[in-house]
Amino acid sequence: SVLEMEVEQINKGNYEHYMQKEIHEQPESLTTTMRGRLIRGGSCKAKSVLLGGLKDHLKTIRRSRRIVFIGCGTSYNAALAARPILEELSGMPVTMEVASDLLDRQGPIYREDTTVFVSQSGETADTLQALHYARENGALCVGITNTVSSAIARNTHCGVHINAGCEIGVASTKAYTSQIVVMAMLSLVIGGDTISNQARREAIIDGLFDLPNKVREVLKLDQEMKDLAKLLIAEQSLLMFGRGYNYATALEGALKVKEVALMHSEGILAGEMKHGPLALVDENLPIVVIATNDACFSKQQSVIQQLRARKGRLIVMCSKGEASLVSPGGSSRVIEVPLVEDCLQPVVNIVPLQLLAYHLTVLRGYNVDQPRNLAKSVTTQ
Ligand code: G6P
Repeated sequence: SVLEMEVEQINKGNYEHYMQKEIHEQPESLTTTMRGRLIRGGSCKAKSVLLGGLKDHLKTIRRSRRIVFIGCGTSYNAALAARPILEELSGMPVTMEVASDLLDRQGPIYREDTTVFVSQSGETADTLQALHYARENGALCVGITNTVSSAIARNTHCGVHINAGCEIGVASTKAYTSQIVVMAMLSLVIGGDTISNQARREAIIDGLFDLPNKVREVLKLDQEMKDLAKLLIAEQSLLMFGRGYNYATALEGALKVKEVALMHSEGILAGEMKHGPLALVDENLPIVVIATNDACFSKQQSVIQQLRARKGRLIVMCSKGEASLVSPGGSSRVIEVPLVEDCLQPVVNIVPLQLLAYHLTVLRGYNVDQPRNLAKSVTTQ
């Protein structure tokens, strides 16, 4: 009806689509996610993190034998992005499960496990089913959702709300970045204070405080991403190479492109390049390489060299001021993003790829907020 259309226009504000609004909203949604949970520290107080929903279960979590992340789609990718920092700070084994696959295999879950269910809607059937399965097996169940009183929030033993605000676009954007931030905070909480990790903890907490500003900065790439989308509009396929903290960025960037722009796109673990993907490389297929500066940077530089040796058509995402290190002589197109603490870099790096997927979709003339065949919340198995 006309009224519904008008309400929708009001909700979208100055934006044309919910996805666009939700991408641009991320500095604010991230601020809300962290509100009341980060303690800045000061003269006598240490910098710290508070997650009220977990405090009664922290001991059990720390005593468990491993942590298992379980989710689908973008929520799975968010957990994958947080896995390295949780492993580092907790020293515990952290394993990943796509909910449907855990169910297909009836994989082993034990009383000594902490299972973490990540879901924006809190209603995804596969994830909910996996939750019932983990409960039956006696595991501690932690929920990370964006929907208070959702099925997953209600059926877990404890949890954290990401407080990203209502997300309407079928393709998840702001929930993804808020999920990563919550799982980074979760890692800090589970890891606890020790003398040996104090500097690292403080750097991450400072990084979290500054993250909304960094996301605001990277959003300025909007026009640049639109220009890039114009170049890629007629492509059949787009590869995205990442590793380490940004393996998840490659998977999530590719998922956005295929979901909304209806273009084949694949996220590839750069360490696996020689074991198959290299065969695809020629002078036509566009490849996004994520090569922001972290411990994997030199390995990623050598991946770039090998792709260039095969005349790969590269678009390289690098840290601000480092274009010459990834694109000697300006040989490939670069996307320069602000450098943040390594474990938070996925939050910054996904933003240009969300923008790219968005603009590709509009330019290709597809439905941004309701891509064909997809639903926001998949409540049937
Ligand atoms: C659907 C949506 C995706 C989402 C996935 C998991 O496939 O289209 O955007 O990532 O479900 O949803 P959840 O609500 O559990 O995070």
